[in-house]
Amino acid sequence: MNPSTTARAHGRVNLLGEHTDYNGGWVLPTQIPQYTEVTLSSTPGRTVEVESSQGRRFAYDLGDEAITGEWIDYIQGATHLLGPQVAHRGGLRVQIHSTLPEGAGLSSSAALETSFLQALTRHHELGLDALAIARLGQRIENEFVGARVGIMDQMATGLGAVGEALFLDTLTLDFERIPLPLEMMDLLIISSGITHRLSENDGGYNQRREECEEACRRLGIQCLRDLDLSTLKLRDLPETLRKRVRHVVSENLRVKEAVVALKAKDLKLLGQLFVESHLSMKLDYEVSLPEIDLLVDLCRAHESVWGARLTGGGFGGSIVALTQKNQSDRVASEVIPTYESETAETAERLL
Ligand code: GLA
Repeated sequence: MNPSTTARAHGRVNLLGEHTDYNGGWVLPTQIPQYTEVTLSSTPGRTVEVESSQGRRFAYDLGDEAITGEWIDYIQGATHLLGPQVAHRGGLRVQIHSTLPEGAGLSSSAALETSFLQALTRHHELGLDALAIARLGQRIENEFVGARVGIMDQMATGLGAVGEALFLDTLTLDFERIPLPLEMMDLLIISSGITHRLSENDGGYNQRREECEEACRRLGIQCLRDLDLSTLKLRDLPETLRKRVRHVVSENLRVKEAVVALKAKDLKLLGQLFVESHLSMKLDYEVSLPEIDLLVDLCRAHESVWGARLTGGGFGGSIVALTQKNQSDRVASEVIPTYESETAETAERLL
């Protein structure tokens, strides 16, 4: 008998705190029901054979990992970074089952990294805890895939839970779990039909990160967490960089306000913060698209919606809306047909 090991990681939707994680700031994601599950078993030799439940297959030899631009790179990145720790244990058969859509801004890649690393840790008794797995997941993205992402998604998929927000300080990695008042509200997620890839040079994600780094250099600070809005006004920065910094600094404030709103079950305030966050991402950080703005505006115009915003890295992906209890069906059924009739896209309700 060849014993197998299974691990599962859920996707996430970020409620607030976008593009703050690689600036040492605060984020507020929650897990969603969709997940990725990985089952591993050992095989003789040094080949890793990967098969997804959609029938996609890929094989490579341990030690010969090479970037392909496909989802398999998240698996290859893991065995590449773990190196001899894994290679000397022999080949692997990896079965993947995922209910998460790719490129929808819901952390399908982090869920794959996290579930694979969790399964591998147990299978080979590597002794990695949840924080070490999250850090390794981020390194797969940064060092192997070439996406200079922060650590939010890996922390959310590894340490979050459905029904509660993870209030995370991305500098210290301290976190607090805050229950969502689901007796009073629904979360609604709609994908725009436009998929994104964070590692693509023209995608803009890495460029935004470079702009933040450039702003720090000019301001003579370590990270944007160290700034407040009043000092920003006094500093000399080119207009584009000033806008990027204004987003990050104001978004950090919104996350902290959102935590207060959540604890007080003040959903009107939380919705207002969603709206402000979206405007900041659209006008200052410039990571939205006209289609996404339309989805957000259609949701916002609905009487049962407290607020809506682009969630995740942007340049496509999904929106998240905060609706009154049991109203998300009605909002989705009214918003989606209008969106589809006004764009060339097919939207999908994901929560
Ligand atoms: C992606 C990245 C995260 C984070 C968000 C934007 O999801 O993986 O690290 O930067 O974009 O908030």
